[in-house]
Amino acid sequence: ALLPGIAAAQPAYPNRPITVIVPFAAGGPTDVVTRLVAEVMARDLGQPVVVENVGGAGGTLGAQRVAQARPDGHTLLLHHIGMGTTPSLYRRLAYDPVNGFEPVGLVTEVPMTIIAKKDFPAANLADMVRVMREQKLSINLANAGVGAASHLCGLLLQSAVQAQVTTIPYRGTGPAMTDLIGGTVDLMCDQTTNTTQQIRSGAVRAYAVTTSERNAALPDLPTAAEAGLPGFEVSVWHGLYAPRGTDAAIVNRLSRSLQVALREERLVARFAELGTTPVSQERATPAAHRAYWQADIAKWRPIIQAAGQYAD
Ligand code: MLT
Repeated sequence: ALLPGIAAAQPAYPNRPITVIVPFAAGGPTDVVTRLVAEVMARDLGQPVVVENVGGAGGTLGAQRVAQARPDGHTLLLHHIGMGTTPSLYRRLAYDPVNGFEPVGLVTEVPMTIIAKKDFPAANLADMVRVMREQKLSINLANAGVGAASHLCGLLLQSAVQAQVTTIPYRGTGPAMTDLIGGTVDLMCDQTTNTTQQIRSGAVRAYAVTTSERNAALPDLPTAAEAGLPGFEVSVWHGLYAPRGTDAAIVNRLSRSLQVALREERLVARFAELGTTPVSQERATPAAHRAYWQADIAKWRPIIQAAGQYAD
Protein backbone atom coordinates (compact mmCIF):
# COMPACT_ATOMS: atom_id res chain seq x y z
CA ALA A 1 0.00 0.00 0.00
CA LEU A 2 1.12 3.54 -0.59
CA LEU A 3 2.68 5.42 2.26
CA PRO A 4 -0.07 7.35 4.10
CA GLY A 5 -0.65 10.87 2.72
CA ILE A 6 0.85 10.15 -0.68
CA ALA A 7 -1.93 10.34 -3.28
CA ALA A 8 -1.98 7.54 -5.83
CA ALA A 9 0.07 9.15 -8.60
CA GLN A 10 -1.82 9.50 -11.86
CA PRO A 11 0.05 7.28 -14.33
CA ALA A 12 1.90 9.64 -16.70
CA TYR A 13 0.41 9.87 -20.19
CA PRO A 14 1.20 8.04 -22.38
CA ASN A 15 2.07 5.05 -20.23
CA ARG A 16 1.96 2.42 -23.00
CA PRO A 17 2.10 2.27 -26.82
CA ILE A 18 -0.47 4.35 -28.70
CA THR A 19 -2.45 2.93 -31.64
CA VAL A 20 -3.52 5.21 -34.49
CA ILE A 21 -6.24 3.67 -36.63
CA VAL A 22 -6.07 4.46 -40.36
CA PRO A 23 -9.55 3.68 -41.74
CA PHE A 24 -8.17 2.62 -45.14
CA ALA A 25 -5.82 -0.10 -46.39
CA ALA A 26 -2.06 0.19 -45.99
CA GLY A 27 -0.14 1.93 -48.77
CA GLY A 28 -2.79 4.55 -49.50
CA PRO A 29 -2.57 8.33 -48.98
CA THR A 30 -4.07 8.34 -45.47
CA ASP A 31 -1.62 5.62 -44.44
CA VAL A 32 1.34 7.57 -45.89
CA VAL A 33 0.44 10.76 -44.00
CA THR A 34 -0.23 8.88 -40.76
CA ARG A 35 3.05 6.95 -40.72
CA LEU A 36 5.07 10.12 -41.27
CA VAL A 37 3.25 11.92 -38.43
CA ALA A 38 3.28 8.88 -36.10
CA GLU A 39 7.05 8.50 -36.36
CA VAL A 40 7.67 12.01 -35.01
CA MET A 41 4.89 11.87 -32.40
CA ALA A 42 6.37 8.62 -31.03
CA ARG A 43 9.70 10.35 -30.36
CA ASP A 44 7.94 13.34 -28.80
CA LEU A 45 5.63 11.23 -26.60
CA GLY A 46 8.26 8.67 -25.62
CA GLN A 47 6.06 5.69 -26.53
CA PRO A 48 5.66 3.68 -29.76
CA VAL A 49 2.85 5.00 -31.97
CA VAL A 50 1.57 1.96 -33.89
CA VAL A 51 -0.42 2.46 -37.10
CA GLU A 52 -3.23 -0.05 -37.62
CA ASN A 53 -5.15 -0.17 -40.91
CA VAL A 54 -8.85 -0.92 -40.55
CA GLY A 55 -10.39 -0.48 -44.02
CA GLY A 56 -13.87 -0.93 -45.35
CA ALA A 57 -17.19 0.89 -45.79
CA GLY A 58 -15.55 4.11 -46.89
CA GLY A 59 -13.59 4.52 -43.66
CA THR A 60 -16.54 4.06 -41.30
CA LEU A 61 -15.34 0.69 -39.93
CA GLY A 62 -12.09 2.23 -38.74
CA ALA A 63 -13.84 5.29 -37.37
CA GLN A 64 -16.25 3.03 -35.46
CA ARG A 65 -13.34 1.22 -33.80
CA VAL A 66 -12.06 4.49 -32.37
CA ALA A 67 -15.48 5.86 -31.40
CA GLN A 68 -15.96 2.67 -29.34
CA ALA A 69 -12.43 2.55 -27.87
CA ARG A 70 -11.61 3.43 -24.25
CA PRO A 71 -11.13 7.23 -24.11
CA ASP A 72 -7.70 6.97 -22.44
CA GLY A 73 -5.64 8.55 -25.21
CA HIS A 74 -4.04 5.30 -26.38
CA THR A 75 -6.35 4.76 -29.37
CA LEU A 76 -6.57 7.52 -31.97
CA LEU A 77 -8.01 8.00 -35.47
CA LEU A 78 -6.34 9.73 -38.39
CA HIS A 79 -9.08 10.34 -40.94
CA HIS A 80 -9.96 12.88 -43.59
CA ILE A 81 -12.80 14.70 -45.37
CA GLY A 82 -14.86 11.53 -44.84
CA MET A 83 -15.46 12.86 -41.30
CA GLY A 84 -17.26 15.75 -42.98
CA THR A 85 -19.35 13.71 -45.43
CA THR A 86 -20.08 10.53 -43.40
CA PRO A 87 -22.64 12.13 -41.08
CA SER A 88 -24.81 12.84 -44.17
CA LEU A 89 -23.90 9.85 -46.35
CA TYR A 90 -24.49 7.11 -43.74
CA ARG A 91 -27.88 7.13 -42.06
CA ARG A 92 -27.40 3.95 -39.99
CA LEU A 93 -24.03 3.78 -38.20
CA ALA A 94 -23.14 1.86 -35.02
CA TYR A 95 -21.47 5.01 -33.68
CA ASP A 96 -22.12 8.74 -33.56
CA PRO A 97 -20.07 10.20 -36.47
CA VAL A 98 -20.18 13.67 -34.93
CA ASN A 99 -20.29 13.31 -31.14
CA GLY A 100 -18.18 10.15 -30.97
CA PHE A 101 -14.85 11.98 -31.22
CA GLU A 102 -12.66 14.65 -29.67
CA PRO A 103 -10.82 16.52 -32.44
CA VAL A 104 -7.09 16.85 -31.71
CA GLY A 105 -6.07 18.93 -34.71
CA LEU A 106 -6.00 19.38 -38.47
CA VAL A 107 -2.97 17.78 -40.15
CA THR A 108 -2.78 18.60 -43.85
CA GLU A 109 -4.82 19.39 -46.96
CA VAL A 110 -3.90 17.20 -49.93
CA PRO A 111 -4.62 18.02 -53.58
CA MET A 112 -6.14 15.36 -55.82
CA THR A 113 -5.19 14.24 -59.31
CA ILE A 114 -7.34 12.80 -62.07
CA ILE A 115 -5.44 9.78 -63.38
CA ALA A 116 -5.93 6.76 -65.66
CA LYS A 117 -4.28 3.49 -66.56
CA LYS A 118 -1.34 4.33 -68.82
CA ASP A 119 -2.95 3.09 -72.05
CA PHE A 120 -6.28 4.84 -71.50
CA PRO A 121 -7.37 6.15 -74.96
CA ALA A 122 -7.21 9.88 -74.09
CA ALA A 123 -4.27 12.24 -74.59
CA ASN A 124 -5.61 14.99 -72.31
CA LEU A 125 -8.51 15.88 -70.01
CA ALA A 126 -10.74 17.06 -72.84
CA ASP A 127 -10.25 13.69 -74.58
CA MET A 128 -10.89 11.89 -71.28
CA VAL A 129 -14.19 13.75 -70.89
CA ARG A 130 -15.19 12.77 -74.43
CA VAL A 131 -14.33 9.10 -73.78
CA MET A 132 -16.30 9.16 -70.50
CA ARG A 133 -19.34 10.51 -72.35
CA GLU A 134 -18.99 7.93 -75.13
CA GLN A 135 -18.17 4.83 -73.09
CA LYS A 136 -20.12 5.63 -69.87
CA LEU A 137 -20.73 2.51 -67.75
CA SER A 138 -18.14 0.46 -69.62
CA ILE A 139 -15.52 2.63 -67.92
CA ASN A 140 -14.40 1.46 -64.44
CA LEU A 141 -13.53 4.18 -61.93
CA ALA A 142 -11.77 2.92 -58.77
CA ASN A 143 -12.48 4.37 -55.35
CA ALA A 144 -12.19 3.45 -51.66
CA GLY A 145 -15.89 3.10 -50.93
CA VAL A 146 -18.73 5.51 -50.18
CA GLY A 147 -17.38 8.36 -48.08
CA ALA A 148 -13.81 8.06 -49.34
CA ALA A 149 -12.15 11.11 -50.87
CA SER A 150 -11.80 9.19 -54.12
CA HIS A 151 -15.55 8.52 -54.02
CA LEU A 152 -16.31 12.21 -53.49
CA CYS A 153 -13.96 13.28 -56.28
CA GLY A 154 -15.48 10.64 -58.57
CA LEU A 155 -18.97 12.03 -57.87
CA LEU A 156 -17.82 15.57 -58.62
CA LEU A 157 -16.13 14.38 -61.83
CA GLN A 158 -19.19 12.50 -63.08
CA SER A 159 -21.45 15.47 -62.44
CA ALA A 160 -18.96 17.89 -64.06
CA VAL A 161 -18.74 15.62 -67.12
CA GLN A 162 -22.44 14.71 -67.05
CA ALA A 163 -21.65 11.02 -67.57
CA GLN A 164 -22.04 8.07 -65.21
CA VAL A 165 -19.34 5.41 -65.09
CA THR A 166 -19.06 2.15 -63.15
CA THR A 167 -17.34 2.52 -59.78
CA ILE A 168 -15.21 -0.24 -58.26
CA PRO A 169 -14.76 0.09 -54.46
CA TYR A 170 -11.53 -0.97 -52.72
CA ARG A 171 -10.48 -0.93 -49.05
CA GLY A 172 -8.19 1.96 -49.90
CA THR A 173 -6.65 3.65 -52.91
CA GLY A 174 -3.39 1.87 -52.21
CA PRO A 175 -4.78 -1.45 -53.49
CA ALA A 176 -6.81 0.43 -56.13
CA MET A 177 -3.59 1.94 -57.49
CA THR A 178 -2.19 -1.58 -57.99
CA ASP A 179 -5.10 -2.42 -60.30
CA LEU A 180 -4.86 0.92 -62.11
CA ILE A 181 -1.18 0.26 -62.81
CA GLY A 182 -2.14 -3.25 -63.87
CA GLY A 183 -4.77 -1.85 -66.19
CA THR A 184 -7.75 -3.73 -64.74
CA VAL A 185 -9.46 -0.46 -63.85
CA ASP A 186 -9.51 2.64 -66.05
CA LEU A 187 -9.73 5.84 -63.97
CA MET A 188 -9.24 7.15 -60.46
CA CYS A 189 -9.25 10.47 -58.68
CA ASP A 190 -6.74 10.24 -55.84
CA GLN A 191 -4.51 12.29 -53.62
CA THR A 192 -1.03 13.41 -54.63
CA THR A 193 0.37 11.57 -51.58
CA ASN A 194 -0.47 8.36 -53.45
CA THR A 195 -0.14 9.42 -57.08
CA THR A 196 2.90 11.72 -57.39
CA GLN A 197 5.45 8.91 -57.62
CA GLN A 198 3.33 6.85 -60.06
CA ILE A 199 2.75 9.87 -62.29
CA ARG A 200 6.47 10.74 -62.36
CA SER A 201 7.43 7.14 -63.20
CA GLY A 202 4.85 6.91 -66.00
CA ALA A 203 3.10 3.99 -64.31
CA VAL A 204 -0.17 5.89 -64.71
CA ARG A 205 -1.40 8.69 -66.92
CA ALA A 206 -2.32 12.03 -65.29
CA TYR A 207 -4.77 14.56 -66.70
CA ALA A 208 -5.14 17.27 -64.07
CA VAL A 209 -4.61 18.40 -60.51
CA THR A 210 -7.77 19.49 -58.67
CA THR A 211 -6.51 22.73 -57.11
CA SER A 212 -6.73 26.29 -58.38
CA GLU A 213 -2.92 26.46 -58.74
CA ARG A 214 -0.54 23.91 -60.23
CA ASN A 215 1.28 21.65 -57.76
CA ALA A 216 4.99 22.24 -57.18
CA ALA A 217 5.62 18.48 -57.05
CA LEU A 218 3.93 18.02 -60.46
CA PRO A 219 4.71 21.29 -62.27
CA ASP A 220 3.83 20.00 -65.76
CA LEU A 221 0.38 18.78 -64.71
CA PRO A 222 -2.33 21.31 -65.67
CA THR A 223 -5.05 22.28 -63.24
CA ALA A 224 -8.53 20.95 -64.04
CA ALA A 225 -9.55 24.52 -64.87
CA GLU A 226 -6.70 24.96 -67.38
CA ALA A 227 -7.46 21.58 -68.93
CA GLY A 228 -11.14 22.17 -69.53
CA LEU A 229 -13.06 21.63 -66.26
CA PRO A 230 -13.29 25.14 -64.77
CA GLY A 231 -14.31 25.25 -61.11
CA PHE A 232 -13.37 21.62 -60.52
CA GLU A 233 -11.58 21.98 -57.19
CA VAL A 234 -11.34 19.51 -54.33
CA SER A 235 -8.63 18.83 -51.77
CA VAL A 236 -8.62 16.36 -48.92
CA TRP A 237 -8.13 17.62 -45.39
CA HIS A 238 -6.89 15.14 -42.76
CA GLY A 239 -7.52 15.36 -39.01
CA LEU A 240 -6.45 13.54 -35.85
CA TYR A 241 -9.13 12.43 -33.36
CA ALA A 242 -9.48 10.75 -29.96
CA PRO A 243 -12.64 9.05 -28.66
CA ARG A 244 -15.27 11.30 -27.07
CA GLY A 245 -14.62 11.71 -23.36
CA THR A 246 -10.82 11.67 -23.61
CA ASP A 247 -9.42 13.94 -20.91
CA ALA A 248 -8.74 17.48 -22.19
CA ALA A 249 -5.20 17.40 -20.77
CA ILE A 250 -4.48 14.32 -22.90
CA VAL A 251 -6.08 15.86 -25.99
CA ASN A 252 -3.95 18.98 -25.52
CA ARG A 253 -0.81 16.89 -25.02
CA LEU A 254 -1.58 15.07 -28.28
CA SER A 255 -2.18 18.36 -30.09
CA ARG A 256 1.21 19.67 -28.92
CA SER A 257 2.81 16.47 -30.16
CA LEU A 258 1.04 16.79 -33.51
CA GLN A 259 2.33 20.35 -33.79
CA VAL A 260 5.87 19.11 -33.14
CA ALA A 261 5.44 16.63 -36.00
CA LEU A 262 4.03 19.22 -38.41
CA ARG A 263 7.06 21.48 -38.01
CA GLU A 264 9.65 18.71 -38.16
CA GLU A 265 11.81 19.48 -41.17
CA ARG A 266 12.13 15.96 -42.59
CA LEU A 267 8.35 15.53 -42.43
CA VAL A 268 7.83 18.90 -44.12
CA ALA A 269 10.29 17.91 -46.86
CA ARG A 270 8.62 14.53 -47.39
CA PHE A 271 5.16 16.13 -47.52
CA ALA A 272 6.50 18.55 -50.17
CA GLU A 273 7.83 15.67 -52.29
CA LEU A 274 4.31 14.17 -52.10
CA GLY A 275 2.62 17.39 -53.21
CA THR A 276 1.32 18.62 -49.87
CA THR A 277 2.21 20.75 -46.85
CA PRO A 278 1.41 20.46 -43.14
CA VAL A 279 -1.19 22.93 -41.85
CA SER A 280 -0.06 25.90 -39.78
CA GLN A 281 0.48 25.29 -36.06
CA GLU A 282 -2.64 27.13 -34.93
CA ARG A 283 -4.85 24.95 -37.14
CA ALA A 284 -3.47 21.79 -35.47
CA THR A 285 -5.36 22.58 -32.25
CA PRO A 286 -8.53 20.98 -30.84
CA ALA A 287 -10.61 24.17 -31.00
CA ALA A 288 -9.51 25.12 -34.52
CA HIS A 289 -10.14 21.65 -35.87
CA ARG A 290 -13.53 21.33 -34.13
CA ALA A 291 -14.67 24.54 -35.84
CA TYR A 292 -13.25 23.49 -39.21
CA TRP A 293 -14.76 19.98 -38.98
CA GLN A 294 -18.24 21.19 -37.93
CA ALA A 295 -18.24 23.72 -40.79
CA ASP A 296 -17.31 20.95 -43.24
CA ILE A 297 -20.19 18.74 -42.04
CA ALA A 298 -22.56 21.69 -42.55
CA LYS A 299 -21.08 22.38 -46.01
CA TRP A 300 -21.54 18.84 -47.33
CA ARG A 301 -24.98 18.09 -45.80
CA PRO A 302 -27.11 20.02 -48.38
CA ILE A 303 -24.89 18.88 -51.27
CA ILE A 304 -25.26 15.21 -50.30
CA GLN A 305 -28.98 15.50 -49.58
CA ALA A 306 -29.53 17.19 -52.95
CA ALA A 307 -27.60 14.41 -54.70
CA GLY A 308 -29.63 11.83 -52.79
CA GLN A 309 -26.58 9.54 -52.83
CA TYR A 310 -26.66 7.70 -49.50
CA ALA A 311 -24.49 4.80 -48.44
CA ASP A 312 -27.37 2.68 -47.14
C1 MLT B 1 -6.78 6.00 -48.71
O1 MLT B 1 -6.01 6.32 -47.81
O2 MLT B 1 -6.90 4.86 -49.20
C2 MLT B 1 -7.64 7.08 -49.28
O3 MLT B 1 -7.75 8.15 -48.38
C3 MLT B 1 -8.96 6.53 -49.61
C4 MLT B 1 -9.82 7.65 -50.09
O4 MLT B 1 -10.29 8.40 -49.22
O5 MLT B 1 -9.98 7.79 -51.30
